Amino acid sequence: MKLGEKVLVTAALPYSYAPRHFGHLAGAYLPADIFARFKRMRGAEVVYVCGTDENASSIVIEAMKRGTTPKELCDMYYPVQKEVFEKLGISFDIFSRTSKPIHYQVVREFYLRLWERGYIYPKTIKQWWCPNCEIFLPDRFVIGTCPKCGAPGQYGDVCEVCGSWYESFEIIDPKCSICGSRPEVREKTHFFLKLSALTEKVLEYVKDKKFWRKATYNKTVAWLEKEGLKDKDITRDYSWGPPAPFPGAEGQVIYNWAENLLGYISATRDWAENIAGNPEEWRRFWTDGSVKLYCFIGKDNLFFHTILFPALLIAHGDYILPYNVVVNEFVNLEGEKLSTSRGWVVWLHELLERYDPDVIRYYAAAIAPETRDTDFKWQDFAEKVNGELIGTYGNFVHRVLSFTYSKMGGVIPRPGEFDRRDEEMLRRRIDYARMLEEHIEACEFRKGLRALLDLAQEGNAYMNEKAPWSSPENAGTAIYVLCQVVYSLAVISAPYLPFTSQRILDYMNIGKKVSELRWSDAEAIIPPGHRINEPKPLFRKITSEEVEEQMRKLLERLKK
Ligand code: MF3
Ligand code: ZN
Repeated sequence: MKLGEKVLVTAALPYSYAPRHFGHLAGAYLPADIFARFKRMRGAEVVYVCGTDENASSIVIEAMKRGTTPKELCDMYYPVQKEVFEKLGISFDIFSRTSKPIHYQVVREFYLRLWERGYIYPKTIKQWWCPNCEIFLPDRFVIGTCPKCGAPGQYGDVCEVCGSWYESFEIIDPKCSICGSRPEVREKTHFFLKLSALTEKVLEYVKDKKFWRKATYNKTVAWLEKEGLKDKDITRDYSWGPPAPFPGAEGQVIYNWAENLLGYISATRDWAENIAGNPEEWRRFWTDGSVKLYCFIGKDNLFFHTILFPALLIAHGDYILPYNVVVNEFVNLEGEKLSTSRGWVVWLHELLERYDPDVIRYYAAAIAPETRDTDFKWQDFAEKVNGELIGTYGNFVHRVLSFTYSKMGGVIPRPGEFDRRDEEMLRRRIDYARMLEEHIEACEFRKGLRALLDLAQEGNAYMNEKAPWSSPENAGTAIYVLCQVVYSLAVISAPYLPFTSQRILDYMNIGKKVSELRWSDAEAIIPPGHRINEPKPLFRKITSEEVEEQMRKLLERLKK
């Protein structure tokens, strides 16, 4: 580790009108959390920011449909989102909101700068207008056929089938998504972001990001080289969201995807002021070129983060750009695409009613869609948890600690002379710490999880060979070695399984909080004579009845 390393970690800001599901956890919040926790353990200064994305057109529409206001809707969901993340141990340094005054201020200052620098210009354009609702129909207000791929039933901003990003007026066969009326054409002056002037600079920025995940890098470069960037309408005619600060833009707000990305900056400022206790502290992160910014997102947000966000930051000029945009694919469910509207989804708050957060984290890391779509299957969930997390990991920890507790008087024994096997085992725990470190640095979280299991597996094999239960003369040395391995395992598991690590520390009577652990503790030695506490099994097995019940519930919800 370089001394004084500073890292900014962001995870996609969740919309504030719907809860988050398992795929979101596996695709953004958990990998970002593992990374942030690991970096903190390495002694880096880390700020991990997130918050709710509250100014989307979809929120205005959802509020209209429910007969409430966007504000009420957001106020209702904010605490729900926050609580789910807390229960899952997602260690945000701040969970802010884009409805906060600080966000409005950041957006205002940011766009005034872009205006001054000539990146914004007014232009009169044609817009869809609903004569029945008497409103313009941008983004999610209009539904029709994708102008690029011809997919029907798409919204006016992004096509969910081909991923294209277009202007609402380009949509074919439009209908008002509130009342279904056919809209009319009206003219209106909007403000455009001069993205065309930024294509080369963004390309230059991306070109030395060959270390990004292949798909991320290739898609980004292909988009820039094939399509180039087109200027983009960034104002909207409704009153929910940060106002557009341009002369002549009165009554308009900034388009959601042109302001929510700035939420990462405003969340950091919220953190600086309200948590770090120094309103200027955010500058040490956003304006210091040595800081590495990691953005964790799902593939549906790719272009916004690899192209639009860098473009905005380049146009502004004062801030650092993402160092890595860690993009995940999707998690399907029982072999089919997820659909929240059809109820084909596994909600996090429902999982938490029944399962230990580390069990959820384990499975989310095990099937993280790092290079391709993966599949949540209840049967597989039970198999991985029972077989790997309990069968290999939990079993290893428990048999070592319970043997120490009941057969060694609850005390770490004094070892005799080490043979080659003992020395090897002691060294392996350090090898694994290094391996895991490499995997996490490379954002290969599944490989990292595998390393944890492999260490437990090697520990199990060593214990079987040494058979301390049948050779009391070697038991002291073997149990001494095994306790060191268990401790190291607890240390290096902390980014993935923080609650479990804490339980192991407590059983081992270490007297530390998991947040106080340093990565180098993986090499520490617990001295002979140290007394441990009574251990209990770390996890509960998932029964086959439970799997059947979960499947039944899922199918029942689908029928409704
Ligand atoms: N709210 C978006 C989503 O859930 C993500 C926004 S990320 C942001 O897909 F940074 F742009 F806000
Ligand atoms: Zn209408």
